Amino acid sequence: MDVHVQIDGRGDRADRIYRQLRDAVLDGRLRHGERLPATRELADRLSVSRSTVATAYERLTAEGYLASRVGSGTFVSAPTAAPSPSAARGERTAARPVQRWADIHDPLWTESLPIAYDFSVGTPDPALFPAESWRRFVAAELRGGILRSGHYRDPAGLQRLRDALARHLGVARSVDALADDILITSGAQQAFDLIGRVLLDPGDVVAVEDPGYPPVRQLFETMGARVVPVPVDEHGLRVDALPDGAKLVYVTPSHQFPLGGVLSFERRTQLLAWASANDAVIVEDDYDSEYRYADRPLDPLQRLDTEGRVVYVGTFSKTMLPALRLGFLVAPPSLMPALRSAKRLTDWHNDHVTQAAMARFIDSGGFARHVRQATKQYGMRQRQILEQAEAMLGDVLQAVPSVAGLHVCLLPRDGAVFDSDRAAAEAAASGVSVQSIARFGFGETPASGLMLGFGAIAPADVPDGLRVLARAVARSHRGGDAQPEPRASATGRD
Ligand SMILES: Cc1ncc(COP(=O)(O)O)c(C=O)c1O
Repeated sequence: MDVHVQIDGRGDRADRIYRQLRDAVLDGRLRHGERLPATRELADRLSVSRSTVATAYERLTAEGYLASRVGSGTFVSAPTAAPSPSAARGERTAARPVQRWADIHDPLWTESLPIAYDFSVGTPDPALFPAESWRRFVAAELRGGILRSGHYRDPAGLQRLRDALARHLGVARSVDALADDILITSGAQQAFDLIGRVLLDPGDVVAVEDPGYPPVRQLFETMGARVVPVPVDEHGLRVDALPDGAKLVYVTPSHQFPLGGVLSFERRTQLLAWASANDAVIVEDDYDSEYRYADRPLDPLQRLDTEGRVVYVGTFSKTMLPALRLGFLVAPPSLMPALRSAKRLTDWHNDHVTQAAMARFIDSGGFARHVRQATKQYGMRQRQILEQAEAMLGDVLQAVPSVAGLHVCLLPRDGAVFDSDRAAAEAAASGVSVQSIARFGFGETPASGLMLGFGAIAPADVPDGLRVLARAVARSHRGGDAQPEPRASATGRD
């Protein structure tokens, strides 16, 4: 362990070494079992005599902080303390973020209560991740020397991945792209960031769906944009309600987030015509519709666009894992040089090993196969949730038809009084994690309902999870007066 010790200035040097090492053990920087440098090594580093270091070590050993084992060295023997913020750190408040970054909260954050039934949204099932293939492809890349040059490369991403993606997107999503139109990003979220950087000035108007995806809304707000909510109905974004002068419109046409509808063909053409008349750019977020359970998909806006006004954004967060932080955008040539510069200036480029392994996975046909197999699994889960939710919650809530993705929405039946925040809180207290749709609205057109994800929950747990949820919903109607449910197998969330 390369421990930091500072002995400049006057005073007893052995005492200083002793105090600094003791403090490091007490505040958890040095952990139980960690090996300290040999006395000679530390003495050389600090330019003191070996006996000075030995005196400090002996004192620490006598007080139980250290122990030495003959032949193997000196180790921390005291139990590791939980690191605690020092009082002084709490007083260090001079550095302040600018206001637009100061009070951002995460509307999707929920208190970490023990979860027995996890219907949370946004995560695929890690058990369906093609771990064996991924391990093989990563290993093949490392063996093949992907990191040998170790140099910075094209900010747009590895050519191999962009080639593979261009082919895949053309076949699977009908996206009209060559490799040069694609830029690899760290998830969809970075794509939105780069797009905002190159298109927006402070004060520009950005139109987003309401209810919609909070991280995008918040991101554009941090850029100083005036973000205007636009209502959605069963056909998706209400194009007739778009604000005058919007420079950018963010939409989720294939699977509206959160409600789940599909932007109708008529609305698609209206939206493109509106963008043309208003000289606006459309950001098409296609985050989870690779999982498709019915119907033929409509052409993406990107394919219908004849003027170069659509930036298509995709992600591997749902088809692979969010932890890979792998996404991409497909942009018109007029934006590509600026986007490439923005990528270079923010993080240079994505990690090469992940990009190269993904290229191999796509080229091998394994990725398409994996998506097909996972779609079968998720399709069964979706049907199961819809049937059972109708049976158990159907008197209050009604499912929104949804043909894609990893979640379904349940909205209050006509006339039903339903406080979705309260229902979600009751559910959480009973060990069921669900999202309240109210968290995704701007508040002007208050949205109400529950969102049930089926990526995280094991199918076998769905019936019990829905049963507990139904009781929590009923309690939320009555005012939350009942006892918490007994939990079958509560697991903590990290
Ligand atoms: C609407 C929407 N867009 C994009 C994403 C993907 O984000 P990322 O690729 O940054 O993980 C998500 C993830 O939950 C989402 O819900």
